Amino acid sequence: MPAQSAVAWIGDASSGNLRLIDQTVLPVEYRELNLRTVEEVWEAIKALRVRGAPAIGVAAAYGVIVGTQSALSAARPEFDARLDQVLTYLATSRPTAVNLFWALDRMRRVANATSGLTSAELVDHLLAEARRIELEDREMCAAIGRHGLPLLKECSGVLTHCNTGGLATAGDGTALAVIFAAARDNPSLQVYADETRPLLQGARLTAWELMQRGVPVKLICDSMAGWVMKERRVQAVIVGADRIAANGDSANKIGTYSLSVLARAHNIPFYIAAPSSTFDLTIQSGDEIPIEQRASAEITNAFGRQTAPDGCDTYNPAFDVAPAENITALITEKGVIQPVTKAQIARVLE
Ligand code: MRU
Repeated sequence: MPAQSAVAWIGDASSGNLRLIDQTVLPVEYRELNLRTVEEVWEAIKALRVRGAPAIGVAAAYGVIVGTQSALSAARPEFDARLDQVLTYLATSRPTAVNLFWALDRMRRVANATSGLTSAELVDHLLAEARRIELEDREMCAAIGRHGLPLLKECSGVLTHCNTGGLATAGDGTALAVIFAAARDNPSLQVYADETRPLLQGARLTAWELMQRGVPVKLICDSMAGWVMKERRVQAVIVGADRIAANGDSANKIGTYSLSVLARAHNIPFYIAAPSSTFDLTIQSGDEIPIEQRASAEITNAFGRQTAPDGCDTYNPAFDVAPAENITALITEKGVIQPVTKAQIARVLE
């Protein structure tokens, strides 16, 4: 668990700032960043200094405050124009995690619902909303842990991918919250963490978080997951999500689709843990989820070392989509969705 929460607001609405743990330098270095401009917040999201769908949403909400502080003493029309500009700009930082757009939408709705306030009063309301988004996320993480616990009761080993813990959320995490709860119950639960190519969120962040909490973890290369299943070392796979369509198709870190196919082939339950803020019920299936494409250098020159020939072409989608039929259950703060069907999702999230 991080010493501090991954995303926090420091100070008041007029002069405070967003404070983040810079996840790009972990686990070698623990560095906190104080962000005071919306450009810095945009860059932090784009560069994955803050990452993980729920944490991106919280960071963006606080980014709105940072971005509008300069217009605090302006008249409302001028302030509203700045707010609109900031919301539009932050929405361009990353395309896949719907929590970003969900959080920005909530901020926009606060502005739309409050008339007759000065700009300074509106910023107070916006900060209160951003704080609510953070607090609610913390509570959703705790509830996800509680709801998911029974599903891991019989497991001696579990496999996870990417990072879904305290660094990726305002609380204990999503899939990792379930794992933390299961490990409290069964301290010998063995976690297998995929390193998660190309940016190694599993190796750098998940292994770090689990080791900080004393949960037994074995780090594996992504390509070892199938063999780990074949050897019956794990009885469940549990991961997070960045966007879940109305039919249950779930986008998550690249490699998740393969894990869902492998789990099905080995008859191992495949769980996705995510808060309701990760569901996008406006889209019918995973085909409509925008998949972020990232820079070639993440594959050819990651972490400052060249690992491919000069000029080597690449394909680098940051996410893929696990189809609903491969997902045993969705674990949300409102309960477990099983079977994963459109009707069941609508019923539980109602
Ligand atoms: O590119 P990232 O590191 O932001 O991708 C993060 C993931 O894919 C996580 O699994 C997902 O956001 C769930 S976080 C609780």
